[in-house]
Amino acid sequence: MRTQVGIVGAGPAGLVLSHLLHLQGIESVVLESHRRDYVEQRIRAGVLEQGTVDLLVESGVGDRLKQEGLVHHGIELRFEGTGHRIDLTELTGGKSITIYAQHEVVKDVIDARLAANGQILFNAEALSLRDIDGNPSIYFKYKGVTQELACDFIAGCDGFHGICRPVIPSSVLRVHERIYPFAWLGILAQVPPASDELIYTYHERGFALLSMRSPEISRLYLQCSPEEDIVNWSDDRIWDELRLRMATRDRWVLKDGPVLQKGITPMRSFVAQPMQFGKLFILGDAAHIVPPTGAKGLNLAVSDVRVLTRALVDFYKTGKKEALERYSETCSRRIWKVQRFSWWMTSMLHRFQNEDSFSHNIHLAELDYVTSSRAAATSLAENYVGLPFD
Ligand code: FAD
Ligand code: DHB
Repeated sequence: MRTQVGIVGAGPAGLVLSHLLHLQGIESVVLESHRRDYVEQRIRAGVLEQGTVDLLVESGVGDRLKQEGLVHHGIELRFEGTGHRIDLTELTGGKSITIYAQHEVVKDVIDARLAANGQILFNAEALSLRDIDGNPSIYFKYKGVTQELACDFIAGCDGFHGICRPVIPSSVLRVHERIYPFAWLGILAQVPPASDELIYTYHERGFALLSMRSPEISRLYLQCSPEEDIVNWSDDRIWDELRLRMATRDRWVLKDGPVLQKGITPMRSFVAQPMQFGKLFILGDAAHIVPPTGAKGLNLAVSDVRVLTRALVDFYKTGKKEALERYSETCSRRIWKVQRFSWWMTSMLHRFQNEDSFSHNIHLAELDYVTSSRAAATSLAENYVGLPFD
């Protein structure tokens, strides 16, 4: 089997890359270790930046997103029992965010690829990469048989635990990492969202977030210990804790409903550089992880895809390799700015271990500043709706 770009992983990075390359006349094959229904149902991120929405719409996979996505013009920061609205649209000259689940994006792009006879092999696990400096190929297991996919380039879109990043020699790869002493317990619940906009709450008992997926489905998160066992969190305990942390002076009401799904996600900041070695390029979670506060993971994966697509188009149309050689450097500036923002939002809104009254007052002062200074609110807003791509 042979193709121009061999893509490992059918998450947002691999799928959107395959779609954009196809629009430019570049062939690819996507190898995905899981079944199609598994990747189409995996509950993950939900907030799309303006630039991500524009890219999906302009590339022809935004019809359902435009119909079903919820456009939001602001978010609330809540602390000491009071909410403060950040008007994203007013502060950014007209930009907004859209709530549309990651697995819906995945479904839309899979549909578009298959309708265009694109090749996505599900249940196809990449086992190893060969000759990434010369004539690269991917060995993978499909229907019980080990096969070879020969290609010009390999795109490692196989997430944090994938096989592609470890192929870059440790003498070359630099890893920058921060592991946080907390995690998020997330639930999906069948109850209309208690607010029209997202609410990020700082409380002495820890962070809480109200988000949503549709006018009928809420998505809520609680800061918890990374060692926490989900079996210790009954639905009632989760709702009680959310009510405690999100309570307001004017008696805001959080109605509960059936919990459809729950899970605990650890939090880390991680950047691996360079994101290229020979003819291997790594994208998305394979190259970097942001803590979820700020909702940047999926959006950052899409911005890597945009950079690599342009570089590959340049190569195939003109033979020039400069943009490919600059791929890692071009991505890096945006990645670090997004890392900074996600780290800052996380630090402002979470309780660290053994925090004393000094730390508590610093959290409150920072929140007070962000919600009362137009300059500070503008900085939050322009990062939240998404920094420019170049
Ligand atoms: P992924 O979506 O991880 O896709 C990688 C794909 O590669 C997977 O389908 C995997 O099955 C496949 N794969 C791996 N190894 C192989 C192999 N050897 N062969 C073939 N295929 C392989 N971000 C937010 O902003 N907000 C959130 O609330 C949020 N929640 C999250 C919850 C969880 C549990 C996780 C893990 C992430 C969450 N994120 C969240 C981050 C966001 O979902 C990711 O940043 C985004 O999925 C990155 O896309 P990706 O395509 O790079 O990687
Ligand atoms: C969601 C996730 C986030 O990480 C965030 O900051 C906001 C919303 C969500 O899943 O809806």
